[in-house]
Amino acid sequence: MEKNLVIEVKGLSKTYKKGVKAVDDLNLSVKEGEIFGLLGPNGSGKTTTINSILDLLDYEQGEIILFDNKFKNKTDVKRNIGLVTQEVGVFDQLNVIENVTFFCGLYINDKATRDQYVKEAIELVQIQDYVKFNPKKLSGGLLRRLHIACGIAHKPKLIFFDEPTVGIDPQSRNHILEQIKQLNKDGATIVYTSHYMEEIEFLCDYIVIMDKGKIIANGTYDELIDKIELVEFIEIEYNNNFPDEAILEIKKMKEVVEVIKNDYKVVIKTNQDNKTLSKIITLLETHNIDYAKINSSKPSLNDVFLELTGKELRD
Ligand SMILES: Nc1ncnc2c1ncn2[C@@H]1O[C@H](COP(=O)(O)OP(=O)(O)OP(=O)(O)O)[C@@H](O)[C@H]1O
Ligand SMILES: [Mg+2]
Repeated sequence: MEKNLVIEVKGLSKTYKKGVKAVDDLNLSVKEGEIFGLLGPNGSGKTTTINSILDLLDYEQGEIILFDNKFKNKTDVKRNIGLVTQEVGVFDQLNVIENVTFFCGLYINDKATRDQYVKEAIELVQIQDYVKFNPKKLSGGLLRRLHIACGIAHKPKLIFFDEPTVGIDPQSRNHILEQIKQLNKDGATIVYTSHYMEEIEFLCDYIVIMDKGKIIANGTYDELIDKIELVEFIEIEYNNNFPDEAILEIKKMKEVVEVIKNDYKVVIKTNQDNKTLSKIITLLETHNIDYAKINSSKPSLNDVFLELTGKELRD
């Protein structure tokens, strides 16, 4: 059975006053139950897309349908949406639990239910030990977690996370990613934006790669990787010398697309993983090349981005 669409965006365009075309004729749909990833470098239009979907911005063109138009009034739509904005926005006058209670209380009126939801949100992001803390006393990672609890405590069906891990340590980042997976398992549809391809690879069922306000590729991770002809990267860290004859010989192999050599490393990009690694090892031995490390890897979303735009995801 086809899954219900939670978000449908058709032909969305947004130009800011200063003439910047931030989103350019964008189409996308998000299915119920999925973790949908928007991946793109800084300024590619991720936040503008989210803010347009949420009606927080005026846009000049496009149609946006939420929850298949199931909810007749705006309050019901809002009640079912959670937003964890890119910038942390909590009240410094309120402590941790008061902040979560405030945001939850925007949608949940019944006190007993609200108290239970607040407790669950605080446990989910694991800030139980800090409930009486003032936000100013929290570390960056804990503050981010509080910010997340505020966005999700009312148990929305659809949650937007706009770069929730920027500027935090790896441990807190892993916590957050696990928590997002949990929210999804508990039934929420998730829209997640990031310029970190590793996070998108880890989390997302479906991925849209954006650049300059346009979609440059979309699909599952495997579908995106299939869009480029490269299938295997072989990296050799060599010790003394890597002779040019050996490079030439590698370049002649029919599956080799590109060979890049620098002072200590040779990278071979291939379009078939047809025992290339073992052929290369034999070649290294034939040429008596002394190497410290050899490694084979699959292309990443960054390689997809690089192939399609000619630049790296991260500058
Ligand atoms: N309020 C604004 N006024 C004018 N231009 C803006 C405004 N907000 C964003 N822009 C521009 O619109 C483009 C898209 O910005 P947007 O914030 O949507 O990108 P993003 O993908 O979310 O980037 P980041 O990863 O840095 O958050 C950029 O060129 C940005 O400079
Ligand atoms: Mg942004």
